[in-house]
Amino acid sequence: MDVNRLSELNQLFRDGQPVVLPSLLQCDFGNLEREIRSLEEAGIRALHLDVMDGHFVPNFTYGMPIVKAVRQLTELTIDVHLMISQPSKYISQFVDAGADYLTIHAEISEDVSSVLEQIRHHGVGVGLAVNPATHVSTVAPLLGKCDLFLSMSVEAGFGGQTFDPIALEKLRFARENYPELLLEVDGGVNMETAAACTQAGAMLLVVGSAIFGHSDYGEAIRSLRQAFAR
Ligand code: DX5
Ligand code: ZN
Repeated sequence: MDVNRLSELNQLFRDGQPVVLPSLLQCDFGNLEREIRSLEEAGIRALHLDVMDGHFVPNFTYGMPIVKAVRQLTELTIDVHLMISQPSKYISQFVDAGADYLTIHAEISEDVSSVLEQIRHHGVGVGLAVNPATHVSTVAPLLGKCDLFLSMSVEAGFGGQTFDPIALEKLRFARENYPELLLEVDGGVNMETAAACTQAGAMLLVVGSAIFGHSDYGEAIRSLRQAFAR
């Protein structure tokens, strides 16, 4: 992705209305094209792809082939959430597969700063995520290297968990200290929690079960938008 497109995306998401990103974890992977078309019809602008390696998190999902398949199906922005232990090994492959943003976790044992630089070098959006138990002070020095900060409101690994409001404090901290950052929240975001997320500064709301648990995705997305528009 060229640097202008990245800065356009950053500006679009930072300055516009909060954006709902459906997380492709609980969708119907056997009908991926149909799923994506119904999300597009609901006015979705970006998709959140949950990559899990069964090592960093006790769950396993998918890798580059699914990112590539999604890229070939849609023009939507692809936000890839790497819940993997050794992202440095796969950055170029996820970029080649079509990721627009790559978010790694602060809790990995690799050198986080150098992996963030590696992502920057590939010209895609640089994201850093923290689980609920990770204090934001441990990542503050790294946020200057990022385009996106993901404050997890559940422990990474599974959809359908309960929202942990500790994520909100970190969003508020980031909003006050890093006004250029895209702020994202992920996990248990629904009708009841969405407004608190946007009030704390989140521009990107990742939503799984509050969309894919409903038969009418458009209706679920409209209700979420109304919840935080209030
Ligand atoms: C969890 C994932 C989330 C999850 C969100 O590790 O990163 O994106 O799929 O699903 P819900 O909205 O159901 O918590
Ligand atoms: Zn996620």
